[in-house]
Amino acid sequence: MRAAAIARAHRLALGWLLAVAACRADPPPAPPAAAAPAPPAETAASRPEPAVAPVAVPTIEGFSPQELRAALKLSPLPPLPPDPTNRFADDPRAAHLGQFLFFDRRLSASGEVSCATCHRPELAFTDGKPLGDAGGDAALPLDRHTPTLLNAAWQRWFFWDGRADSLWSQALHPLEEPREHGFSRLALAHLLHQAEELRRAYEALFGPLPPLADTTRFPAQGRPGHAPWESMQPDDRDAIDRVFSNVGKAFAAYQRRLVSRDSPFDRFIAAVRAGDTARTAEYDPVAREGLRLFVGAARCVRCHSSPTFTDREFHDNRVPTATGAPRRDPGRQRGIARVQDDPFNAAGRWSDAPEGAAAEQLRYLPRAADSFSHFKTPTLRDVAVTAPYMHQGQLATLDDVLAYYDTLEQAVPTHSPERTLAPLQMAPEQLAALRAFLESLTGAPLDPALVAAPPTPDLPQ
Ligand code: HEC
Ligand code: HEC
Repeated sequence: MRAAAIARAHRLALGWLLAVAACRADPPPAPPAAAAPAPPAETAASRPEPAVAPVAVPTIEGFSPQELRAALKLSPLPPLPPDPTNRFADDPRAAHLGQFLFFDRRLSASGEVSCATCHRPELAFTDGKPLGDAGGDAALPLDRHTPTLLNAAWQRWFFWDGRADSLWSQALHPLEEPREHGFSRLALAHLLHQAEELRRAYEALFGPLPPLADTTRFPAQGRPGHAPWESMQPDDRDAIDRVFSNVGKAFAAYQRRLVSRDSPFDRFIAAVRAGDTARTAEYDPVAREGLRLFVGAARCVRCHSSPTFTDREFHDNRVPTATGAPRRDPGRQRGIARVQDDPFNAAGRWSDAPEGAAAEQLRYLPRAADSFSHFKTPTLRDVAVTAPYMHQGQLATLDDVLAYYDTLEQAVPTHSPERTLAPLQMAPEQLAALRAFLESLTGAPLDPALVAAPPTPDLPQ
């Protein structure tokens, strides 16, 4: 009966492929009567990989039908989701300027800090430290661990507590955070105005900068809460906020290109779909057993679901703090209030889709105590490169993470009504298999042109 259902699905898929092929010829035929799957949405910047022709019924030896189904849901990565709140999201000039600024240390109070200080390309855009810090003797650590930026475009909420709802509004936080760039939106606008090459690139894309030469109207630095900022005319503050949000949109356009795909696991699933037994055999059998546990007995896919290995939700995994002190980080509980109050959120005036779906979902977030110390389910792609782990970097290695999940030893009490985790209680070989699976999620290297500062902020003509 299962085989019959799969055969039917294949007939439908074949029908759709034929219809698509026919659509390319003129004149277009009437749509097929059967409910064929809709073609996937795609954005201008990313064409989906060509659909794998349904030539074989996928099977993985030793996998139950449920395990197989769950495994197939984890690959391939779907097309890049559009971000209507950022009309520059897929503009190549914005991505280029964003990439230039990502490596530009002038965007900091000390002149020493860029995004790449903490998000280092060679560490999958993390820093290898438990807690993020800007480096230098005086730098205070942040409260949380630096996450990867790979595949961030598929996220719905940003930061461990989800206090930003877009990639572009996220970027505005580190720029003004004293322990990160320590910059201000006014200083940023003046930098763009004064550095000839930045000004040209910015204005070609976003239009003229405000008349920043007038420093009585536009003080040299300041952000909300600072006297110089508060003394400004409302319209002038708006003009600076416009510049600030545009810079965020350029950062986002760059980060949307940081896509990790084509890991050994993806190649395995592609081979399974194609029924190519020679290629399926290339996958490490230990990792394959780890996959079976990941989608099956270990139930990791309850939260690490989807091709980016996250349900894009928040949970309390009850990981003890690094110091053993009681937990004080409210996590998602405060994140909800902060994202709803953020003037740069999807519903705000700097959003390019203030009535869109992202704005709508902001209204339905419960401001409840239930989410105290809940943190975002992180992606597991490239996880072998992003140690240490968890929101405070409490766990040094993947073995430590798996040992924690295995026993939940020292798990702290939770305020959450959600019963999230039970100890795995697995054999050492099973934990080793899970680790081998996690290690098979490292994607192909990025285009080298994406991982360093380009020579100029504007695209060469
Ligand atoms: C001093 C180190 C540091 C600097 C500099 C820094 N970041 Fe981060 N970044 C972090 C840390 C730590 C977090 C997690 C903070 C949290 O969740 O509260 C983070 C989170 C993020 C996230 C959220 C990822 C996710 O999955 O939720 C993005 C995106 C990001 N940073 C991009 C940037 C950009 C763009 C810049 C430059 C404008 C930047 N960062 C500068 C340390 C840094
Ligand atoms: C109830 C949801 C849930 C389940 C089930 C779950 N995880 Fe997680 N996982 C999370 C959350 C949430 C975090 C971050 C927790 C934190 O920082 O406090 C996390 C963190 C991790 C990390 C660290 C990643 C990083 O970048 O810091 C790894 C690795 C991981 N999980 C693997 C697994 C594996 C393997 C399983 C199955 C044995 C599993 N998880 C089961 C929700 C879950």
